Amino acid sequence: MNNNHEIIIKNQFDIEQMRISGKLAAEVLDFITPYVVPGVSTNELDKLCHDFIVNVQEAYPSPLNYVNGSNVMPYPKSICTSVNNEICHGIPSPRILKDGDIINIDVTVYKNSYHGDTSRMFCVGNTTQHARRLCQVTFECLWLGIEQVKPGNYLGDIGFAIQNHAQNNGYSVVREFCGHGIGKIFHEDLQILHYGRPKSGIKIVPGMIFTIEPMINQGRKEVRFLSDGWTAVTKDRSLSAQWEHTILVTDNGYEVLTISPKMPPQPQSANR
Ligand code: MF3
Ligand code: CO
Ligand code: CO
Repeated sequence: MNNNHEIIIKNQFDIEQMRISGKLAAEVLDFITPYVVPGVSTNELDKLCHDFIVNVQEAYPSPLNYVNGSNVMPYPKSICTSVNNEICHGIPSPRILKDGDIINIDVTVYKNSYHGDTSRMFCVGNTTQHARRLCQVTFECLWLGIEQVKPGNYLGDIGFAIQNHAQNNGYSVVREFCGHGIGKIFHEDLQILHYGRPKSGIKIVPGMIFTIEPMINQGRKEVRFLSDGWTAVTKDRSLSAQWEHTILVTDNGYEVLTISPKMPPQPQSANR
């Protein structure tokens, strides 16, 4: 058994199960997409996702009652909804989305003892070009990171690709949160930094499964926490964006596990 202090390499059975959990998580995002419009509350989005996960998918929303050692209160909702200057772990509330908001919806589902974890950005109504560009560049950051995933590369190659693209566009990379190994445990010990140096850190090997989930700020990288103990916001109040996929390392590259019919496709070229 693992003690959560080692890198867990998945076997063929684990991989089959992770394909199922990953697909379910992505399908929740497909399901919720038409509801992300001006006038909806984040609580309504949470309820819709919760009921879909529990009743349709017959799965469990991993965030619900999730305990993080450093936080006092267990996470009280089923998804994370992080709006505008919120970086991650925003808690659904009566807050109403308004025209021009950007929101990250982060879904993790637990099915047959395995977790799948994915998030996307949504533009609510008509957003500014600045906001749309931040969302697009962050999506490119995710995919530039994914493209570094192959046996023989290093975790630092992923972080470097992400940091490079973010900073080339005048943005900053949040340091307080990282991608993570995932499987039977939601957050396994393996950490995937979204910044770093080429050929640094742990070597990537087949059978690893981890998330890549860069959080990119329009302004400075510094983070502040709201009094709820969970919601991370930008200290300078600038906008922040995040995208996340769960990735399997294959014998010659990667397989994205959090796939669904309506997922935004890999960008043609992020090198602009
Ligand atoms: N889904 C988040 C991640 O990508 C974690 C959310 S934990 C919660 O790792 F408790 F805040 F929901
Ligand atoms: Co994650
Ligand atoms: Co997530």
